[in-house]
Amino acid sequence: MSKLTVISHPLIAHKITMLRDEKTPVKEFRELINEIALLMTYEVTKELPLKPQKVKTPLAETEGAFIERQVALVPILRAGLGIVDALMKIIPASKVGHVGLYRDPETLKPVEYYCKLPTDIEQRQVIVLDPMLATGGSAAAAIDFIKQRGANKIKLMCVLGVPEGVKTVAEAHPDVDIYLAALDEKLNDHGYIVPGLGDAGDRLFGTL
Ligand code: PRP
Ligand code: URA
Repeated sequence: MSKLTVISHPLIAHKITMLRDEKTPVKEFRELINEIALLMTYEVTKELPLKPQKVKTPLAETEGAFIERQVALVPILRAGLGIVDALMKIIPASKVGHVGLYRDPETLKPVEYYCKLPTDIEQRQVIVLDPMLATGGSAAAAIDFIKQRGANKIKLMCVLGVPEGVKTVAEAHPDVDIYLAALDEKLNDHGYIVPGLGDAGDRLFGTL
């Protein structure tokens, strides 16, 4: 069964409160969501396997370690783009794939329009990125596409989620662990997270 981790940290709680604020302008929103993603990365990458690596300091040779399994970051377009930079910065050897999905506003079902992934995806630890886990339809569909192309180690990292979205992903993909910065209460009648932060893509890209 999927493991759900809601990352609890004072810096994350503080920054999420600023992110939720309807008065937070686009530039600050982008900076905050990047900073939250960077803080979350510490927890999301905690189980990456290491291989021993000797290193020679100016004083002595010692046993060190390098990450054994390389990472593929897969932001779900478009809002996932808002958190991918933070992870690319801290894991510079990662490759980046993209899955393009939007939620049909009537049916709330995900519609795919783009998918381009690293060719060696089956050898990598995949981290799927999307700020919002609402019904969970988009994340579950994105993970379907990524698995169809050979990925076998996948984690999902979102900033805000609700129990319904967690349940959808956990039932469809019990092998995928889920990481959130906050678990909100519910969805409204339009499939928006409440209290949430509004439309993440619009707030990131100024298309309100
Ligand atoms: C948002 C969000 C997720 C999806 C979550 O994207 O970034 O991808 O909704 O909703 P779900 O869990 O109910 O599927 P949206 O469809 O608004 O597209 P955008 O990123 O292009 O704005
Ligand atoms: N997508 C968003 O951007 N926000 C929500 O609250 C739900 C889905």
